[in-house]
Amino acid sequence: MHCEANGDNTTEERRYFLSVLSTFESYREQSIIRIERREKYLLSLPPDHQLWLKRYNEDLENFKKCVHKNADFIPIIVENAYTIFDNILCSDNRSHSETEVGTLSEGLDKVQSVFKQLMRDWSSLGATERKQCYNPIIEEIEFQFPPEKFQLKDVNVLVPGAGLGRLAFEIASRGYSCQGNEFNLFMLIVSFYVLNLCKKVNEFTVYPWIHQYCNNLTAEQQMMSVTFPDVRPMPTPESKFSMTAGDFLEVYSIPNEWDCVATCFFIDCAANVVQFIELIHHILKPNGVWINLGPLLYHYSDVKYEKSIEPSFQVLCEVIKKVGFTMEKSQTGLKTRYCQNPMSMLQYEYNSVFFVCRKSPE
Ligand SMILES: C[S@@+](CC[C@H](N)C(=O)[O-])C[C@H]1O[C@@H](n2cnc3c(N)ncnc32)[C@H](O)[C@@H]1O
Repeated sequence: MHCEANGDNTTEERRYFLSVLSTFESYREQSIIRIERREKYLLSLPPDHQLWLKRYNEDLENFKKCVHKNADFIPIIVENAYTIFDNILCSDNRSHSETEVGTLSEGLDKVQSVFKQLMRDWSSLGATERKQCYNPIIEEIEFQFPPEKFQLKDVNVLVPGAGLGRLAFEIASRGYSCQGNEFNLFMLIVSFYVLNLCKKVNEFTVYPWIHQYCNNLTAEQQMMSVTFPDVRPMPTPESKFSMTAGDFLEVYSIPNEWDCVATCFFIDCAANVVQFIELIHHILKPNGVWINLGPLLYHYSDVKYEKSIEPSFQVLCEVIKKVGFTMEKSQTGLKTRYCQNPMSMLQYEYNSVFFVCRKSPE
């Protein structure tokens, strides 16, 4: 799998890339600081409280061990991150003047979500979520483009918002030409490593929920580990599987290029979802198919200083038709989860929508 960076190789982009690496590198220290804050507070409590919470104090020690194990994976991915974009973004290693780039303020959360996303996409524990979320899409692609009627390698499928790449990888593994697109560098750096450089099944162990301090029945549940990758991502010929780095709205503009666009937990990532729908329609070939599964958890809704609109599914269906699609299938109420700790007292489950739309044959 190769990765293409889109846009100009500006100093700003390179600095952002280095800040992401720097944020990854700060994970160990920042996460330990957060545990130490709890320890400090514990030490300030009345002595009998401290005594009764002895076990919790020991738990905090063990949480640190898990953070260290998560952190051990980071130098491995950072070391290889420089080779990602065919050397576009990273012509050589960090130069001396660039060692002072800062970390990103929201960065620690992003590193933590990468560990959860590794569970979803590349661990055996994530198989249930993948079955709920990815299988309906894959089965629909196989139904729309069966091997008896199509040369699978000539069917090109785009997966915008590809996350850690498992859905795109699964589609490519079935013989289709598949391209994932993702703009989050934290995801891209980790997916690049998993897809290109992981050599053995279950080579690594991470603790996806070690930062989830609430709703645990036992400390062991917080310390639950997963191994990855659950399969060895077999290299497929480059023409069949690739990832692009950049904003879907900026990377894709060529009309009539794709046979299929598959979106999973993606369309609600737009400030204006209509722009996503229009672009999907524009880049699909005549008769091309858009397959979507996910909720409408509009990401920018109520985010301070961000613009956002949040049309209901009913309104979206009207928009989809106005843009020029025919909705061929539509289901509601698909029980789906996203990076869920199965042991937590708090369980989120979406009643997702699944639909299949076709662009008119011109
Ligand atoms: C909720 S996640 C879903 C990831 C994956 N499809 C899955 O189901 O696990 C949405 C993904 O879309 C990416 N994303 C959001 N807006 C994007 C955009 N405009 N261009 C490219 N990727 C985007 C995010 O970084 C994130 O990885």
